[in-house]
Amino acid sequence: MDWHQKIHLEPPEGWMNDPNGLCFFEGLYHVFFQYSPGSADGTTKRCWGHFVSPDLKWFEYKGIVFRPDIPEDSDGAFSGSAVVKDGKMHIFYTGNVEHPGNYDYINEGREGNQIHVVSPDGFEMSPKKVILKNRDYPDDCSCHVRDPKVWIEDGKWKMVLGARTKDDRGEVLFFEAADPDDWHFVRSVTAPDMGYMWECPDLFELGGKTFLAVCPQGLDHEEFKYQNTFSSGYFSFDRDNYSVSDLEEFDYGFDFYAPQTFLDANGDRILIGWMGMGDSRYSNPTTSLGWQHCLTIPRRLELEEDGRICQIPLVDYCEYKEGEPFAVVLDQNEEQGPFTICVGDAVLRFENEVLSLSFGSSGCGRDIRKVRCSRIRDLKILVDSSSLEIFINGGRFVMSSRFYPDNIPSVECCGCSADIAGILCS
Ligand code: FRU
Repeated sequence: MDWHQKIHLEPPEGWMNDPNGLCFFEGLYHVFFQYSPGSADGTTKRCWGHFVSPDLKWFEYKGIVFRPDIPEDSDGAFSGSAVVKDGKMHIFYTGNVEHPGNYDYINEGREGNQIHVVSPDGFEMSPKKVILKNRDYPDDCSCHVRDPKVWIEDGKWKMVLGARTKDDRGEVLFFEAADPDDWHFVRSVTAPDMGYMWECPDLFELGGKTFLAVCPQGLDHEEFKYQNTFSSGYFSFDRDNYSVSDLEEFDYGFDFYAPQTFLDANGDRILIGWMGMGDSRYSNPTTSLGWQHCLTIPRRLELEEDGRICQIPLVDYCEYKEGEPFAVVLDQNEEQGPFTICVGDAVLRFENEVLSLSFGSSGCGRDIRKVRCSRIRDLKILVDSSSLEIFINGGRFVMSSRFYPDNIPSVECCGCSADIAGILCS
């Protein structure tokens, strides 16, 4: 079985993690990503790789745009974002520096430099300019400050940064600027008992409401909440008081982290996540073949009346062809009893108001993940060569996972009957 993905972005070789710098600029979508070329286990220093697409469906790999080549990003060009303004692409990312020596690399020995680069066309990049350094962050911050997400609002540049405090709380730092090279700190936002570090923040509007997305590390794992090593979710955000609601999770599968959102050409908000997980107890056998990890299918976000964000995958459906990506589609209009859908040895089971996803050997150590849900209205399972993305009730809940079947997986249903459609064929 060839585990190369057909409709998911993955590196030509080596290691991929977070999507970065997502934007639509002069007729093209740009999807940059965290890239360790030449090391499928991610041990080489992070660069930025680059894909472009006319439609978020067909992508072309364009090579490496940033390497760690200045003193302020010498140990990695870490995550960041892009803003289009006055015909230019502005990229902001974190330069990671780890000083040689005997340091803990949390409160000492590390620099998190924020760097600004301007591009006239999305390909050619200006020299790197350092715009924020450790001395610019509040005194209670550790050296872990990174992942700028920048946007423009009421003529002002705004930035959120993920941070860890010296007393091990995750927080988001808000900065503002009239000029994108001259930023000042506004305030920080945190929430009680929400882990020691928040990575990859994102602030966005959807359906007239404001959301603050974060990736908290160090949450206590529960049966139905925060099941993954690290989490990823969104707070409803009160702009006047800089306060947040409870965290809602984006995804309940084994492989999802560090999502980023942006506006497409229609003004819809699109999310792309990393289909991977750091420090997990399960593995990806492509590592020994020379590559590891991929990104999720781009997903359009919609707000439900009760404040939950739905994710709708941007794919086209067509006739099923063996060996091509496909979707298992279940529409359940009537009341239903328990049912099971198997895709190879992946088992999706609905019973007693719980939907569970478990794997046999194809999961390479992935055991079980659960979503509590009183009723299944509809389900879509997108199956690529080595991944499943399950969209439940119009994308109210999503489970994203890698799996590595030996053969093209067959689909079996028990207690329900699902249709099979091809996806995104030429
Ligand atoms: C999230 C993350 C970011 C960081 C990047 C480094 O997966 O840890 O916080 O910028 O990956 O690759």
